[in-house]
Amino acid sequence: MKIVTVVGARPQFIKAAAVSRIIRKQHEEILIHTGQHYDNNMSDIFFDELRIPKPDKNLNVGSGSHAKQTAEMMIGIEQALIDERPDCLLIYGDTNSTLAGAIAASKVHVPVVHVEAGLRSYNKNMPEEQNRVLADHISDLLLCPTDTAVENLKNEGITEGVYQVGDVMCDAVLYYSKMMESHGRKDYFAQFAGLFGNIPVLDSWYMATIHRAENTDRIEKIREILGAFEELDAPVIFPVHPRTKGMVEQLHQQYAYRNVIFIEPVGYLTMLYLVKHAMKTITDSGGLQKETYILDTPCITVRDQTEWVETLRGNYNILAKPDKEDILNKIYQTQTDTKAKEDYYGDGHASEKICDLLSYVKRGERE
Ligand code: UD1
Ligand code: UDP
Repeated sequence: MKIVTVVGARPQFIKAAAVSRIIRKQHEEILIHTGQHYDNNMSDIFFDELRIPKPDKNLNVGSGSHAKQTAEMMIGIEQALIDERPDCLLIYGDTNSTLAGAIAASKVHVPVVHVEAGLRSYNKNMPEEQNRVLADHISDLLLCPTDTAVENLKNEGITEGVYQVGDVMCDAVLYYSKMMESHGRKDYFAQFAGLFGNIPVLDSWYMATIHRAENTDRIEKIREILGAFEELDAPVIFPVHPRTKGMVEQLHQQYAYRNVIFIEPVGYLTMLYLVKHAMKTITDSGGLQKETYILDTPCITVRDQTEWVETLRGNYNILAKPDKEDILNKIYQTQTDTKAKEDYYGDGHASEKICDLLSYVKRGERE
């Protein structure tokens, strides 16, 4: 089969790293990078480090308003689909690149395969919720990471072409965690250890990432979050997403944070290492909520709801408001119940299941 895969944002490169390696054993894959993420440490670093096949085409759309970015992607993807005439289009997750791929393919009758289908926050203000709901409703094959996701689709009347395959990010964590110790440790000592200003002590830092639109819409929220980090009992390593960078720099000038180690975004292996050896992780990332769960690092998620509801069981993951006191309370006062842990995200072989299921869609079905 000939498959066109669309990626564009950091988490999609990591998902493609797990899936492309497997599907290319049986199928022909054409990889399109929309260019949504373009900085070296948001894009190239993942292709190089994780040995993801180089994109066959980069649409170079860059940043912009939702409409401009999505529309430019759709134009480029549509042309590629007309040129390549694939059997299906494969998309991941819930970014603007996901939605652009789904709409472009559906309109030219190329079957749409959605990996990470069925996730819901039930918060319609989130651009990600809009993207995933719309993508699911025009997808032909809906590959769900969890039973909850299958149930969510059922509640919206989508039952055909739905399969629970497990989570491809779990595939990535389990596969790459074999390499993370040696790579991450080297990178850590080479780049970050000195920033502690002391002999670094393994397992005695917090990890943090913040980039969600709902937390970066007002600088006061970032001030509250950094205010909590500043009061913690150990340093906080914070690789700053480009969306958050301007606000962080402005606040750092004013408050000169001493307990927060601001660093550029890091590669995936280093990230896994920093998370594995953190006391807790504070984040609003989707992917990190599962990585912390799988790597046994308790997580505080600075959001009102999560799509990854399984992580909440046993307090492996706890929701907090973008409020200094709430974040500190949740970090200090909540114990994790390790007996509650289960393999909700699969066995690390979701990509093989996806590969086998791809033959269920054929171009002719949409003609
Ligand atoms: C996007 C996704 C979000 C996902 C995140 C992963 C949408 C609507 N959002 O959010 O679901 O969690 O990616 O990281 O698709 N920028 C750079 N360099 C880059 C990329 C972005 O400087 O390489 C800056 C630009 O100022 C840009 C801003 O970051 O305007 C936001 O980037 P964008 O891709 O629009 O959204 P993300 O916040 O990255
Ligand atoms: N990540 C990374 N380097 C960083 C920050 C995050 O490799 O500096 C990884 C992280 O481990 C996870 C993925 O990027 O696998 C999550 O991406 P992000 O938080 O940007 O997006 P989301 O999952 O929220 O859509």
